[in-house]
Amino acid sequence: MQMHKVLVILGHCSPLLVLHSFQTEMIDIIKSYNQDCCFSCRRISCFHHQPRVYPTQGISTQKSRDLNINMACEMSKTTRVSPVLRHLRKLQQNAKANNAPSDALIQIETCIDCIHARNDYCETISSPPSDVIDNIVTETETHPWQQVRDEGKVLSDVAPIMLSGALEGTFLKMLTGMSNAKRALEIGLLTGCSALSIAEALPADGEVVTCEISEYLASLARKLVDHSPHGKKIKIMTGPGTDCLQQMAKEGQKFDFVFIDADKPGYIRYYKIIMDNDMLTPRGTILVDNALYAGMSYLPQDKLQLSARFTTTNHVMREFNEYVYNDDRVSQVLLPIHDGVMIIRRKEAFEGTA
Ligand SMILES: C[S@@+](CC[C@H](N)C(=O)[O-])C[C@H]1O[C@@H](n2cnc3c(N)ncnc32)[C@H](O)[C@@H]1O
Repeated sequence: MQMHKVLVILGHCSPLLVLHSFQTEMIDIIKSYNQDCCFSCRRISCFHHQPRVYPTQGISTQKSRDLNINMACEMSKTTRVSPVLRHLRKLQQNAKANNAPSDALIQIETCIDCIHARNDYCETISSPPSDVIDNIVTETETHPWQQVRDEGKVLSDVAPIMLSGALEGTFLKMLTGMSNAKRALEIGLLTGCSALSIAEALPADGEVVTCEISEYLASLARKLVDHSPHGKKIKIMTGPGTDCLQQMAKEGQKFDFVFIDADKPGYIRYYKIIMDNDMLTPRGTILVDNALYAGMSYLPQDKLQLSARFTTTNHVMREFNEYVYNDDRVSQVLLPIHDGVMIIRRKEAFEGTA
């Protein structure tokens, strides 16, 4: 029997399995084990747990180690954005430490599973991402981030957890198409997942201009998005978002679709440059990521269940949201997707005619 190197990533309640030199038949065994142990599998059956199988032939030991670290991060992504989940995890820890009755522990576990099952279901039932987007997600998860951070090639907080990912990418693609956008703008490129998701919905002569502070990320993303025929629509500007925007404002550039997803303290500045310089076309749309900011937009510090190092900028998204709320030029809606996505349009575009 032929031996393969495979990586199987199952649902949230399974451990990450890096199977070196296993036979691919193992996947079925793991899959059925998973169906026995997992609440969401029972609910959604094997449909939910089609495992994603990535060939890992050639992945170096270093990459493999980073993959484990990054996936540990990935597995806590929902926890990072959901205060309810963070409280449930704390409750679970306390209940275990205090020898709570087993039915109470099961109930807590069920609550945690319900949250994950909802997210997993949305991702599973949505149209899948393109192969190139899928590859960007994998590359982002396996990248040696610790090393590039230590070498100062990216900002100290850059991590795969920042990636919009498959579901938000599909959402961006859907909205770009719905808004009939031709020219799009992004602030915060990372590895190109969101830029390519937008580009995939643009017409052949459309363009996404994206601003990224890190030269390293700009060149990594360039390589990754150029695997797609839509990559040619992506123009990358390197430098601080403010400088890039001011330059484009001077040139009188206009955009039908804008995605703001960079440093949170810069959001008001980016929004003001775009709106004050009339860079948004009359029927244009601005999308703002992380509008709920892991709960920091709407919860007081003592309800966040986040360590102090995450909450040093806890006020910035609340301030941004309130700034938009008080801006008479626009109407907005905040959707509780992932870490919160705010959609903003000019009032005239939002209101129909009577
Ligand atoms: C949340 S990530 C972007 C994720 C990306 N939009 C995606 O969904 O795949 C934020 C990115 O903004 C970049 N960034 C941070 N500060 C910036 C600044 N002042 N100007 C431009 N880019 C910045 C970071 O290097 C990082 O790549």
